[in-house]
Amino acid sequence: SLTVISHISPFVLSFPIGAQGEYAGLAAIKAYLNSKGEAHRTVCLIPKSAHGTNPASAQMAGMKVQVVEVDKDGNIDMANLKALVDKHKTNLAAMMITYPSTFGVFEESIDDVCNLIHQNGGQVYLDGANMNAQVGLCRPGDYGSDVSHLNLHKTFCIPHGGGGPGMGPIGVKEHLAPFLPSHPVVLMSAGNMSSSLGTISAAPWGSSAILPISWAYIKMMGAKGLVHATEVAILNANYMAKRLESHYKILFKGRKGFCAHEFILDVRPFKKSANIEAVDVAKRLQDYGFHAPTMSWPVAGTLMIEPTESEDKAEMDRFCDSLMGIRQEIADIEEGRMDARINPLKMAPHSLASITSSTWDRPYSREYAAFPLPFVRPETKFWPSISRIDDIYGDQHLVCTCPPMDVYESPYEEKRASS
Ligand SMILES: *Cc1c(COP(=O)(O)O)cnc(C)c1O
Ligand SMILES: *[C@@H]1O[C@H](CO)[C@@H](O)[C@H](O)[C@H]1NC(C)=O
Repeated sequence: SLTVISHISPFVLSFPIGAQGEYAGLAAIKAYLNSKGEAHRTVCLIPKSAHGTNPASAQMAGMKVQVVEVDKDGNIDMANLKALVDKHKTNLAAMMITYPSTFGVFEESIDDVCNLIHQNGGQVYLDGANMNAQVGLCRPGDYGSDVSHLNLHKTFCIPHGGGGPGMGPIGVKEHLAPFLPSHPVVLMSAGNMSSSLGTISAAPWGSSAILPISWAYIKMMGAKGLVHATEVAILNANYMAKRLESHYKILFKGRKGFCAHEFILDVRPFKKSANIEAVDVAKRLQDYGFHAPTMSWPVAGTLMIEPTESEDKAEMDRFCDSLMGIRQEIADIEEGRMDARINPLKMAPHSLASITSSTWDRPYSREYAAFPLPFVRPETKFWPSISRIDDIYGDQHLVCTCPPMDVYESPYEEKRASS
C-alpha cells in the first residue's frame, strides 16, 4: 500500500490533483488547530520558490500567506524565516515546504525548518510533488512533515499532461487523522464525523479508474524496484547536469555540487549576448525532435530539466547533444557568424511546409534547419506541425467577435417595432 512508501501514517485519502490534496491537508491542520482552541492561528509561511498551488490552497483553506525569502543558492533564507516565525508565532498555523526544493536541491536545513515551526506551535505541510527523488530513500515523516501529498501522476506512473488525470493522496500523522475528510454516505475509517473537516470529494477514496495504475506500478516494481527508480532518477539528472555544465550554467546545486532529480539551466545571459531567450531554445528543440522541458518555472527565463528514471542513456545523450548543438548555434550568433534576427533559433520550429516551400531566403540551409544533427534523420524525423506563432500576442490583444445586435433582430420584432 501507499503507506509503505511514505511511512507517514496509516491514514491515506486520495484527491484528484496535488492542489486538492494540499487543500485537504491544510484544512485538516486548520480543523486540528480549531479543536485545540487555536482558531486564531491562521498564518501560513510559504517560500518564494513554492509552486503556485501552495499559496492558492492556503488561501482557500482560510489561511493568510506570508512569503519566506530564499537565498542566492535557492535555499530557504533561515534568518528571514526566523524573523517571520518570531513575528507571527502566536498566530502561526503552518509552513508549506517542498522537498527537495523546486530548485532541485535537497535543502540541508530541512530538520531545522521543521523544528522551528513545531516549536512555535505550527504544523508542517510537506509538498510531496518531488517524491520521485525520495521514494525508498527518505521519509517525510522522519524529518518533520505532519501532512504530505503524493502526486501519483508525477511519481507513481499515472500518465499526465494536457490537464489530467491526476491524483494527490495525502498522508497525515496520527494527531491529524480525526480531522481528515468524512463523507455523508460512505463510512470512512480514518475520518471522524464529529471532528472531521467535512467532505471534499464526492468519491471518497478517489478514482477507481486511475488509482489502480499506481497500485499496479508499485506492485510490479516492488520495494527494491522503487528504490532503484528513485536512485536512477537522481543519477540521470546529475548525469545530464554534468554533461551540460560546461556549456550552460546550472543555476542551483547542493553544497557538494549535486542536484536532486531535476536541475535548472540558466539561459538568461543569452538574451544580452545573442538576443536568444528560453522560448527560442524550447522551439528549436522541436527541430531536434524533443518536446521542451518546463519553461520559466520556478525561475523566469530558465529551463528546468527532469529526466526521471524512464529515459535510457542514449535518449538522454541525444537530448544533451541537442542542447549542445543549440549552444553552438547561440555562439554563432554571439560571434557574428549568424544573423541576429533570422537564424535557426528565432525561426524555429521548422515545419515540413516551411522547409519545402518554393522560396527559401534564409542565411542557413534547409537541411541544417530540419536535420541539425546526424541522429535527426528523414526516416524518423518528428515534424513540428506548425511554425512559430507569437505565443502571447493573442492573450494581449483581445479581439471582440461579438456579433452586432442586428444579427438577433427577427422579422417579427421588426414588424412589432414599426407598428
Ligand atoms: C506539480 C506540483 C504541484 C501541484 O500539483 P498538481 O497536481 O498540478 O495540482 C505542487 N507543488 C509542486 C512542487 C509541484 O511540482
Ligand atoms: C472523534 O472525535 C471526538 C471529538 O474530537 C472524540 O471525542 C472521539 O474520541 C473521536 N473518535 C474516534 C473514533 O477517533
